[in-house]
Amino acid sequence: MTTDTVVNLDLLDDVRAGLSQSQKSLPCIWFYDDRGSELFQQITHLSEYYLTRTEQSILEQRVDGLAQRLGAGTAVVEYGAGASIKTRTLLAALLEPSSFWPVDISDGFVRDAAKSIETLFPGLSVKPWVGDFMAGGPSRSDFQNAPTVLGFFPGSTIGNLSDAEISTFLRTVHDQLGKDALFLVGADLKKEPSILIDAYDDAQGVTANFNMNLLVRINRELDADFDLTNFHHEARWNEDASQIEMHLVSQCDQSVTIQGHSFAFKSGETIHTENSRKFTVEGLTAIAKQADWSVNELWSDPDQLYGMLLLEAA
Ligand code: AVJ
Repeated sequence: MTTDTVVNLDLLDDVRAGLSQSQKSLPCIWFYDDRGSELFQQITHLSEYYLTRTEQSILEQRVDGLAQRLGAGTAVVEYGAGASIKTRTLLAALLEPSSFWPVDISDGFVRDAAKSIETLFPGLSVKPWVGDFMAGGPSRSDFQNAPTVLGFFPGSTIGNLSDAEISTFLRTVHDQLGKDALFLVGADLKKEPSILIDAYDDAQGVTANFNMNLLVRINRELDADFDLTNFHHEARWNEDASQIEMHLVSQCDQSVTIQGHSFAFKSGETIHTENSRKFTVEGLTAIAKQADWSVNELWSDPDQLYGMLLLEAA
């Protein structure tokens, strides 16, 4: 046992609660430590993981039209990570955007992201906003002088949220950005399950490492003793919930000790680590409508793998 482990108490709370349920589960936010974020970057380049490149190509095709529509001086608020290629594509196409507000829970990440965007777009005022995007971000009064406002929520991060969470989040953004705002949301669409399974269980095992890294993190940050050889990555399609689920499957009867607590696992028992929902356009439109947004434009790729909704206040 190391003596210099600084226990992450928020993680400990979630682990204790999650592993005490009959279906063990852990919140997917804990994937994204440094190693997890790096593995996710690798996932976005996998041939099986069509989401990122498809969204990027849709955006590239549509962004000039959006820029014309918004005109000069737009304030852009991005919920979640904010220095990706798609962020740069968007900011580069807009006509002299006035300010960019990346909202992210990770203080270090959002400040680094802000710096790299600042370097690339010298005239742009970049305002990192540290916080959970579920609470929204800056409000219309923070960019009073901007003639137009664009919210940006790419990457199908919306797929990690429940209906209730989506509804709360969309309402919060609606209230904060004001009646004249547009909100561009990226969402993965429902399709043949085998395509989805491959995207979440790739041949190289990068997604498996991404999932397993959660146990590596718990071992390190909570001084736990998960034996990694005794767990296996699995991606499951849940048709009723229309979602891909990632699980970590116990390969034997075993017990794991975490901060003096022991947790028993039966062989075949799983820790459910992520939901990645796959939407229909009708479903998304209905959810948006409940939160007082209407779909102004719907963008997709020729194979309708992925959708981007341009929402406006209803
Ligand atoms: C970043 C949440 C959109 O659900 O596709 C990738 C995360 N999980 N492979 C997704 C993820 C497994 C990703 N999101």
